[in-house]
Amino acid sequence: MTTNTNLNLRAEVKDLSFSYGPKKVLNRVSMPIYENRITALIGPSGCGKTTLLRCFNRMHDLYAATNYDGEILLHPEKRNVLARDVDPMEVRMRIGMVFQKPNPFPKSIFENVAYGLRVRGVRKRSFIEDRVEKSLQQAGLWSEVKDRLPSPATALSGGQQQRLCIARALATEPEILLLDEPTSALDPISTTHIEELITELKKDWTIVIVTHNLHQASRTADYTAFMYLGDLIEFDTSDKLFTTPRDPRTENYITGRFG
Ligand SMILES: Nc1ncnc2c1ncn2[C@@H]1O[C@H](COP(=O)(O)OP(=O)(O)O)[C@@H](O)[C@H]1O
Ligand SMILES: [Mg+2]
Repeated sequence: MTTNTNLNLRAEVKDLSFSYGPKKVLNRVSMPIYENRITALIGPSGCGKTTLLRCFNRMHDLYAATNYDGEILLHPEKRNVLARDVDPMEVRMRIGMVFQKPNPFPKSIFENVAYGLRVRGVRKRSFIEDRVEKSLQQAGLWSEVKDRLPSPATALSGGQQQRLCIARALATEPEILLLDEPTSALDPISTTHIEELITELKKDWTIVIVTHNLHQASRTADYTAFMYLGDLIEFDTSDKLFTTPRDPRTENYITGRFG
């Protein structure tokens, strides 16, 4: 693994193993997550991309019989989000997640974005209004919804709903934004829109994105990690990984030769 000493680390995955009951799904994965960069996780279906992403915000704690080993350190303080004494709720505030299928709450557009702030106990109306507007601006949705903030979020189109979910995640100003195949349920135009948005967002945020779309990874991500059967096979700049991969398994995958 090559680490770039010119960039700031936002997080560091160290020797992370994970199992669902007896089934081991991640084998001692280590990788850096650089600040204000986009890192893509790629690899065949079932290789552990979603599982790795969900470790970052302790989503697995919601289910029984899951087992972590190793660390995910949040920089600069190097806090291990997997440590027993860390409250998973606190981690989920610091690390935002957007899922494959847009999942707005059955609430208004406004309340979807305000949700995380309210859960945190924020009461001040002007603060909430400002943050909702800012988040919708950042998610590229403000001009489309500013005149109908009290309308149900479920009335939005799929692409708008996904941008709303991104706004909802941004509203609590997470340190890392996790995106799990955020465009796989969207049409090509909405997909382009979200890809442009993600590229725009890295000015202010650190992003980890799972995608099965190799063009999407090479277009949007600064760094790419190739995973295979729970192992991290190769991590490099997207430029290098997609043009001169070092491992034959990476090469087979990116050239579509995987059997
Ligand atoms: N809740 C679960 N219980 C048991 N096995 C699971 C569970 N979720 C995923 N798996 C298994 O873990 C492996 C990795 O899955 P996943 O992380 O979803 O892969 P990917 O996102 O790369 O397609 C697969 O073999 C999958 O079947
Ligand atoms: Mg997945």
